[in-house]
Amino acid sequence: MVKGDAEGGPLVLVTGATGYVGGRLLGELAGRRVRLRCLARRPAALVGRVGPGVEVVGGDVRDWCSLERALRGVEAAYYLVHRMAGSRDYAQEDREAAECFGAVAREAGVRRIVYLGGLGDESDPRLSAHLRSRHEVGRILRGSGVETIEFRASMVIGAGSLSFELLRALTERLPVMVCPRWLATPTQPIAVADVVAYLVAALALPAGPSRVFEVGTPEVTTYRDLIREYARQRGLRRWLVTVPVLTPRLSAAWLAVVTPARYEVGRHLIEGLRNPMVVRDPAAREVFSIRPMGVAEAIGRALAELGGGAGVAAADGVGGR
Ligand SMILES: NC(=O)c1ccc[n+]([C@@H]2O[C@H](COP(=O)([O-])OP(=O)(O)OC[C@H]3O[C@@H](n4cnc5c(N)ncnc54)[C@H](OP(=O)(O)O)[C@@H]3O)[C@@H](O)[C@H]2O)c1
Repeated sequence: MVKGDAEGGPLVLVTGATGYVGGRLLGELAGRRVRLRCLARRPAALVGRVGPGVEVVGGDVRDWCSLERALRGVEAAYYLVHRMAGSRDYAQEDREAAECFGAVAREAGVRRIVYLGGLGDESDPRLSAHLRSRHEVGRILRGSGVETIEFRASMVIGAGSLSFELLRALTERLPVMVCPRWLATPTQPIAVADVVAYLVAALALPAGPSRVFEVGTPEVTTYRDLIREYARQRGLRRWLVTVPVLTPRLSAAWLAVVTPARYEVGRHLIEGLRNPMVVRDPAAREVFSIRPMGVAEAIGRALAELGGGAGVAAADGVGGR
C-alpha cells in the first residue's frame, strides 16, 4: 500500500497525462486522497486541463534531469508513455526511456511504478515488434529495483483511444470491407473504465514483488466481431469479405487509404493484430475485485460518450480524452 503524508495522501506522478489512458486516469485520481503531479513534454498544453492542486512539471522520460525533478518525493509513478507516434526507432527510444525512468525512480526512492503495456505471448516468435517492445519496457521497469505492477491489455475501448478510433473509422467509412485474415485473430479488449479501475487499484496493493496482470473483457472475441458489434449498435449494414493473404505492409497501406492520415501511426498496431491478445493468466481476477464489463457494453459506453448519431459518424475526429 502506498502511504503518503498526513496532509493530502501520497504524491503520485502521472506520465502520459496528455495521452488517452493517462488523461482518463488523471480524471479518476482527482477525486481520491492523493497528491497529483504530471510530467509533460508540453506542460502548457496540460495546465489548463487539470484540476486545481494538480502540479504540472515539464519534462521528458528520456531526460534524466527532468525526471529527477519530477520524481522527487514521489511514492508511486504511473508509466503511461509510448513513442510510437513520433519516432522511426520507437523500440530503441522506448527502451532508453524505460531504463532512464526506472533508474531515476530507484534513486528517488519511488516505492511503486504502475505500467500499462500490451497482451501477447512473449514466447511467440511471430510477436509483433510493437508488442515485443511493450513487453520489453515492462521487463526493464521490473528490473529497475522499484516494485513494478504491469498490466497487459489488448485494445482499450473508449472514445479517443487510438485503437478504438481505428475500428470506428473503418466501420463508419466502409460499407464493404476487404479484410485481411487477421480479423479472425482472438482478442480480449477492455473498456477504458475498467483499465483505469485496475490502474487506480494498483495503488492499494500491499507491498511485494513486481507483478504482471493480464486484463480484458470476460469473453474472447475477434476484430471481425468487434466491427460487427460496433455496426450493430450503430444500425449500419456492413459486409466483410476476407482475403487469404494481406501482409502487414499491405494491411498498413490499406489502413492508410481507408482511414484519416493521423491514423498512419496505427501501422504499428496493425502488425500486432495477427497476434492473439488474450488473457491466459487468471491472477487479476484473483487479486482484484474488478469484474470487467463485456464487449457490447464497452462499445455502447464509448458510443454514448461520443454523443450518438452525427457525433459518432464524424470519424475524422478523435474523441475527447
Ligand atoms: N490505447 C490503447 O488501446 C492501449 C491498449 C493497450 C495498452 N496501452 C498502453 O497504454 C499506455 C498509454 O497509451 P495511450 O493510448 O494513452 O497513448 P497515447 O494516447 O498515444 O499517449 C502517449 C503519451 O506518451 C507521452 N509521451 C511520449 N513520449 C514521451 C516522452 N519522451 N516523455 C514524456 N511523455 C511522452 C505523450 O505525450 P505528448 O503529448 O508530449 O506526445 C502522451 O501523453 C501505453 O503504454 C500503451 O501501450 C494502450
